[in-house]
Order: sequence, then C-alpha cells, then structure tokens
Amino acid sequence: MSIVADRLSRIKPSPTIAVTNKAKELKAAGRDVIGLGAGEPDFDTPDFVKEGAYKAIRDGQTKYTAVDGTPELKDAIIAKFKHDNNLTYTREQITVGTGGKQVLYNALMASVNPGDEVIIPAPYWVSYPDMVLLAEGTPVAVECSKENNFKLQPEDLEAAITPKTKWVILNSPSNPTGAAYSCDEMKKLTDVLVRHPHVYIMTDDMYEHLVYDDFTFSTPAQVEPSLFDRTLTCNGVSKAYAMTGWRIGYAGGPKELIKAMAKIQSQSTSNPCSISQAAAVAALRGDQSFLKERNDAFKMRRDRVVDMLNEADGIECLTPEGAFYVYPSCAGCIGKTTPDGKRIETDEDFVTYLLESEGVACVQGTAFGLAPYFRISYATSMEALEEACKRIKRACSSLKGEAKAA
Ligand SMILES: Cc1ncc(COP(=O)(O)O)c(C=O)c1O
Repeated sequence: MSIVADRLSRIKPSPTIAVTNKAKELKAAGRDVIGLGAGEPDFDTPDFVKEGAYKAIRDGQTKYTAVDGTPELKDAIIAKFKHDNNLTYTREQITVGTGGKQVLYNALMASVNPGDEVIIPAPYWVSYPDMVLLAEGTPVAVECSKENNFKLQPEDLEAAITPKTKWVILNSPSNPTGAAYSCDEMKKLTDVLVRHPHVYIMTDDMYEHLVYDDFTFSTPAQVEPSLFDRTLTCNGVSKAYAMTGWRIGYAGGPKELIKAMAKIQSQSTSNPCSISQAAAVAALRGDQSFLKERNDAFKMRRDRVVDMLNEADGIECLTPEGAFYVYPSCAGCIGKTTPDGKRIETDEDFVTYLLESEGVACVQGTAFGLAPYFRISYATSMEALEEACKRIKRACSSLKGEAKAA
C-alpha cells in the first residue's frame, strides 16, 4: 500500500516553481541561464516596511496572534479596501493568511462540496484548478482567446454557468497574461453574475497596483455593489510591496465564509507570522509613492520586451495592461525543426528548445491552460531582458521548415 494518499493523484506540482528550480540548477552547474520564470518582483521590500518588522521584533510581537489576523492588520486592510476600492468591511469580514495562496486555498476548502463546479477563465494561474481538485470540486476552464485579449467574454461566462456552479474565479491583472478588465469590461461580467444568484465570485486582485498607461483597476464588488454579499475579494502584499517571502495575503468577504476559513486555518497553520503581519501594516499604512517609480520601470521593460518579441520569427505578443508577465504565442514556431533535427510539436518543446539552445527559461502555456503560448516574467533587469529577447530571436530564426499553422 502506498504511503501517499489517493487525493495526491489528482494534482501536479506547481510547474512554475519547477521551471524556476530547473533554471537555478542549470545556473549552479555553470550554465549561462536567464530565468524568466519567476513570479516575483526583482525589487527589494521597501525600507519602511522592513522598519515595521524590526520594530515588531524589538517590541516583542513574537507570540501567537489571533488566528486570522491581528486587529491592527485587519484595520489596515479595512482602510485599504475603503480607500482603494470603496468597499466597506468590518473585522469579521476580513481574513489574513500565510500568503494569498493560503487565503485562496482556505476559501476553496471551506466552501466547495464534492462535485461543485468552479469556473476558471483560461489561461489561469496554475494553482486554481489543483486547489479546486484538492477540495473535491470540478474545475471548469473557459477559454479566453488571444483575439479577445485573453479576457473572459460575458457570453462564454453565461454559457459556462450551471446549477452546480459554486464559484467563478476572476484574476485581473492576470497571471499569466497580464490582461486586466476595464471597469466597462468588468461590468459586463458582473451583469451576467447578477442574473445567477447561486454563484459566488472569488476575485484575485493580487496585481491590483501593477497597472500601466493610466489604466484604472476595478474589482467586481466595487463595480456591482449588489454582488458584495457573494464576493470574496482576495489580495495581498506579495507583489505590490515586493514581499513574496513574508507570506501575507488577505481577503474581505461574507462573515460565514470568513469564519469557516478561520476554522481551517486554526487546525492547520494558525496565525500568519506575527512579524510579517506587522510589516504588512507598515506596507498598507505607509507612503505608497514608491509604487509609481517601480511601475514606470515595469512599463519600460514591458514595452521593450513586447517590441523585441514581435521581431522574432513566429512569435506574436500582445501588450497587456498589468502584472509583470507577457504571454506570447509561439504558434508560428510549431511544426518547425531545430538545428539538432528535433521537431517543435508543442509549446513545451519550444520552451525546452529555448532553455537547451540559448539558456532562456520560460514557462510553457500548457501549464496555464492555453497553448501554444509561453509566459515571460519581466520582473528582472532590462539588461537581462534584452539579452533574453535577443537569444529568443536567434533561437526562432534558427528554426527550419514551415510552421504548421502557416
Ligand atoms: C494570481 C496570483 N494569485 C495568488 C498568488 C499567490 O500569492 P502569494 O505569494 O501571496 O501566496 C500569486 C503568486 O504568484 C498569483 O500570481
């Protein structure tokens, strides 16, 4: 009898973490590798946030806290939701977890019954379907094509809803595409959801602050206040404040759900790190002006990467609204042959070729549920990005033969 439980056979290890690890291994072995797989900013945590943590240590905030967040952090989150999103929560409607990932996981574990359906627009963040499967639910992927800028269309949402639908997960700006819904686009989706009162909305707003070109961020409960009672608005400090290692995520939502999530957390991890919670208070309450400078750098990198990729044979890349990812199509390379005589059949073959021939590590689109594409994270230096794009261009022009799609 295997020591491993049957439920593990439903899920796979995170492919994005696998790529990051592979790139690290190759680097350690002396290969010249540029890793474009990372899902975290290359910037450091701002000093004023670190100061908040030093102070917490000095003040002895080193003990257990309330399971789902200190009152100070909950209040800072309430103020953030009011200020940024015009959403009004009380402490009982707020939860804090060890990263956005744990918040989403708790929410699904606390709410999904066997056979419940969860609509997930594809391409999607890799963890959503696997979390749903662990919770014994059924992930229902709805394809969002490049022609629609990788955005869910209202009619496709409508068609995917069944009596078994429990949740719709929205993620804007998106990992992996960077696509973000304008207020009008979001309203068209919420109009559909208003008509289906049994459906709950889980919105993952992790990249809220990372938007460019004067784009205005919007979130479902803000756009359609009548959905407030059935929306879980998830967010965190990982991406905007470059705090991925501190592990703090949070959400605002219905009291009953928030209480159920705390019950799970109380029997698994208990409270998130007390010092990280104090740092998150400093992040949310502090001067936010550093964001603009960082976003200017991200925008410049995005524009440069998109331009360079569109010069590569067989690659087509849209300019997304936010996050720090682009999601180029490699359809124009499928069917071609590498200088070693290997045929590129899939986006996985394509990213393997990029890694082996040029030492550029990206993640295949198949991992995110829409092929043939690949994800590039531009959260790295301009110099590394330009070199990586140069190498991708060289790899593409070394391919022989005709593309299948041509
Ligand atoms: C869309 C999305 N949601 C949630 C998370 C999880 O964030 P955290 O690091 O806070 O767990 C990530 C991290 O990559 C993400 O890209």
